[in-house]
Amino acid sequence: MSKTLITSALPYVNGVPHLGHMVGCLLPSDVYARFMRMMGNEVLYICGTDEHGTPSEVGAAKEGMDIGEYCTKYHNRHKEAYAAFNLSFDYFGRTSSPQNQELVYHIFEQLDKNGCIEEKTIKQIYSVDDGRFLPDRYVTGTCPHCGYDKARGDQCENCTKVLEPTELINPRSTISGSTNLEIRETRHLFLKLPMLEKRLSEWVRSKEPFWPDVAYSIAQKWLKEGLQERCITRDLKWGFPVNKPGFEDKVFYVWFDAPIGYIGITKQWADQNPSVRSWKDWWLDAKDVNYVEFMGKDNVPFHSISFPATLLGTGENWTLVDYLKGMSYLTFEGGKFSKSEKRGIFAEDAVKEYPADYWRYWLMSNAPEGSDASFSFELFASVINKDLNGVLGNFVSRVLKMTASKIGEEVPAGGEDTEIETALIKVLQERTDDYIKYMKDLEFRKALNELRAIWVEGNNYISAAEPWTVIKENPERAAAILRTCINLIRIFAVLSAPVMPQTAESMLQRLGLRAENMPSLNGFNVKKEISALKPGQKFSVGEALFERITPERVEELKAKYGSSK
Ligand code: 2FM
Ligand code: ZN
Repeated sequence: MSKTLITSALPYVNGVPHLGHMVGCLLPSDVYARFMRMMGNEVLYICGTDEHGTPSEVGAAKEGMDIGEYCTKYHNRHKEAYAAFNLSFDYFGRTSSPQNQELVYHIFEQLDKNGCIEEKTIKQIYSVDDGRFLPDRYVTGTCPHCGYDKARGDQCENCTKVLEPTELINPRSTISGSTNLEIRETRHLFLKLPMLEKRLSEWVRSKEPFWPDVAYSIAQKWLKEGLQERCITRDLKWGFPVNKPGFEDKVFYVWFDAPIGYIGITKQWADQNPSVRSWKDWWLDAKDVNYVEFMGKDNVPFHSISFPATLLGTGENWTLVDYLKGMSYLTFEGGKFSKSEKRGIFAEDAVKEYPADYWRYWLMSNAPEGSDASFSFELFASVINKDLNGVLGNFVSRVLKMTASKIGEEVPAGGEDTEIETALIKVLQERTDDYIKYMKDLEFRKALNELRAIWVEGNNYISAAEPWTVIKENPERAAAILRTCINLIRIFAVLSAPVMPQTAESMLQRLGLRAENMPSLNGFNVKKEISALKPGQKFSVGEALFERITPERVEELKAKYGSSK
């Protein structure tokens, strides 16, 4: 059994996830993890909350909470939202865990020992009234280029020019509004990326045939421009205190400890589950591990450059990413998701409106893979009504109702197959092979297209075979057709399971089957599977699988969750 390690970018703990976050890494990684398990691989699927940094400190202060309690509150909120979306993490941990601290310290010590760390004095803005240094984006002022009066210290949102906070006119603290700011000198630790450039570019080159174009070209662009030393410490209170004499009052930068968090969270998981093998089996001197990472495209430089360089610099044999799936963005009705402006649907609300599988199916079939995609309630309703109700749901209810009323609530016996079944098996095998290939290649939109086409073949088959007409003249033949159709329901459930786990379970339950006993997708043989359910097996018709979304409901949802139009 080959080992597949899957990680999804760790969401920032402050704030709650919206549909853009769901499709930007969490959901595709879950679909892939479910698929790889069904292919018979040993999978470890890891995620968790990214908890350190200024935004958490500011969020906690705004809510008047202790920072630790604040992070626990939002960690739990994330966890609940993902459980409601049926994300099947083996473990959902936290970057603030003691296990992560232990790993961050170890990795830092190795880097320092190998001469990859340098001390430098830098100038930073200090807010006297806030009693703290301000990160660049927490300084606001007037842009020297365009005069925009709410420009951030790292970039002007209006003219997009990259800025230094010291360039801003009338600078003030974003936290308190105070203008009592000073420039102070402070000593920090830097990771000497230039020193690691050669090893890194050899490694990136070795990935060329396997990495998707976007990841490879982003990494190449950074290497071509030449790597700069990166500051890995900050003057904050919330974070892991730096384990180096003279720097104890600083903490590690959130982007230093967050990716190490994948390893730290694996250790959290291993510590809490004595039955699992060591975390090292996946991460250190690990054999035969294929590591697949999911993230938004803005994260690609960190994961193709800084994090691999950090691990290479230790001189130890850490698992490095084999395949990096970078996703583009999802917009909401053509604009941005915004909690403060109450625009966009958030994961925890979405599942109160419709079951998770509706969202999972819509998001995966519209995944922003090559370019950005846009969500609208009209599009959502149209896809759910057409694909889920019109194609899949309709097939299941038509077949089960017809069989129950004409023959009885069991898989019918008798009758022979004809060339229509031979043709059906052939086309379904081709489509299933394509579906599995696209899933393996992480081409989710294409995979979902095949899945839909597979359901359509079921509808085409029943329309061509016409059991409702045949039954009048040749009840035996009608029995054979309906037996094939019931077996198709089982096949559709199995193939849909990575994308719509609850729907698959509900389909199987109607046939008296359990999701745990699904056949492997590895070498899935339609000819064999299409006669797996034998005559006499009881079934129940059950309720409709999906509910239609009416135009009135669309209007209601738009009014409730906002629309940028
Ligand atoms: O972009 C983000 O949401 C970051 N919190 C991702 C961190 S991923 C990993 F490196 F930890
Ligand atoms: Zn500007």
